[in-house]
Amino acid sequence: MGQTSRRYSVCLKFPTLTDLMRIRKGILGSGCGGTGGKSEGSATRNEGVETMWGRLTGAMRVLPRQPVALWNGAGMRAMSSFAKKPKVVSVTGAAGAIGYSLVIRIASGEMLGKDQPVILKLIETEPGMKPLKGVMMELQDCAFPLLHGLHGTADLEEGFGDAEHCVLVGARPRGPGMERKDLMTANAAIFETQGKAINKAAAKGVSVLVVGNPANTNSLVLAANAPDVDSSKVMAMMRLDQNRAMGQIAEKTGCLVSDVEKVVIWGNHSNNQYPDIHHATVKGESAMKVINDEAWMKETFIPRVQKRGAEIISARGASSAASAASSAIDHFRDYVYGTGDMWHSIAIPSKGEYNTTPGLWFSLPRKCLGDGKMELVEGLTFNAFGEEMMKKVEKELIEERDAVKHLLP
Ligand SMILES: NC(=O)c1ccc[n+]([C@@H]2O[C@H](COP(=O)([O-])OP(=O)(O)OC[C@H]3O[C@@H](n4cnc5c(N)ncnc54)[C@H](O)[C@@H]3O)[C@@H](O)[C@H]2O)c1
Repeated sequence: MGQTSRRYSVCLKFPTLTDLMRIRKGILGSGCGGTGGKSEGSATRNEGVETMWGRLTGAMRVLPRQPVALWNGAGMRAMSSFAKKPKVVSVTGAAGAIGYSLVIRIASGEMLGKDQPVILKLIETEPGMKPLKGVMMELQDCAFPLLHGLHGTADLEEGFGDAEHCVLVGARPRGPGMERKDLMTANAAIFETQGKAINKAAAKGVSVLVVGNPANTNSLVLAANAPDVDSSKVMAMMRLDQNRAMGQIAEKTGCLVSDVEKVVIWGNHSNNQYPDIHHATVKGESAMKVINDEAWMKETFIPRVQKRGAEIISARGASSAASAASSAIDHFRDYVYGTGDMWHSIAIPSKGEYNTTPGLWFSLPRKCLGDGKMELVEGLTFNAFGEEMMKKVEKELIEERDAVKHLLP
């Protein structure tokens, strides 16, 4: 990949718990490097906030308003937020369209929680370093209280160093005259290299979400090249397809998306996936009964979800980015925090469930139990149409696997 060790780094220094206690008492020492203020202990309660805030902005340039909150009852929440150990999150392709939307939301706490500080390690190609610098400047300017560290690099081992969660977005776009097979081989090679780097540098127990396409087969290549990483923690993103399907059903039935449950996307993130509403419910009722329109399901719903990416490109003139980033956030948030009995379509290596070929990153319905634990939804049945759809998508995943065989050690 020719990536070198060029990097940018912004150190965002935030107060320790002790600092915050001292702020509350109005005794923060001059070691904080103030911009002027009253001497220690001389401030009144309100002046103290102002004064301390003035000092803090001098020392911790991106410190937002948490210390102010210490005075208004929200203080304990603010303090507990700083009490958690920051988690290292690595993102590739961070200067791209999805990455731009994604990193802002991770830094704001939408992915790992509003009380979970993060250290972001952003990875780009060498030509991507300049726009990445701009993204980092914006992140700094957002003054997110939870962003405890920010690094940008083209060096993979540095970028994945100690990573607890990785979101792999960076991939080569399809060029003019490029066949899908050529794109697959080019991108699979990227994931081979990244797998090796994650294996070497990431934290034990790292979890990885692959977004870059072809996401399922890239996941297979990555895991094959990262033997020390638990392959069931290498996931291909299917959440965008699930969200798209839920949006379509909500529109069709005139309900809210939150009324729609148990939609399944089987198989691959591709035009051959099987968006299945046979088990879905709308406000607890069978979606098939509520919709009562099989022709709509087969001729409108399924092709629309399968080809939604192309529909967005033709409308917007650019591929889906904000919705992809949002789905990555949804995926990791639910994976980490759990969602009880809700079903999510997640592609991890098949163990042969539902008669799928073992080792393929075949999307199946799962329940997220929290802390990265998942449980397969078992016992679902297919009609003849469903069986046909399952066979078709499995065939595609086998062909993709065979096309990248040379990258599987
Ligand atoms: N799984 C899904 O649901 C889903 C949805 C939408 C898009 N995607 C895929 O996500 C990927 C990114 O889409 P985008 O719109 O952000 O594209 P983009 O071209 O705007 O951004 C990609 C970024 O990745 C960087 N990059 C390329 N190779 C890299 C590497 N080896 N290491 C690090 N960075 C690298 C590029 O420099 C660029 O900044 C594409 O493969 C796209 O097909 C997947």
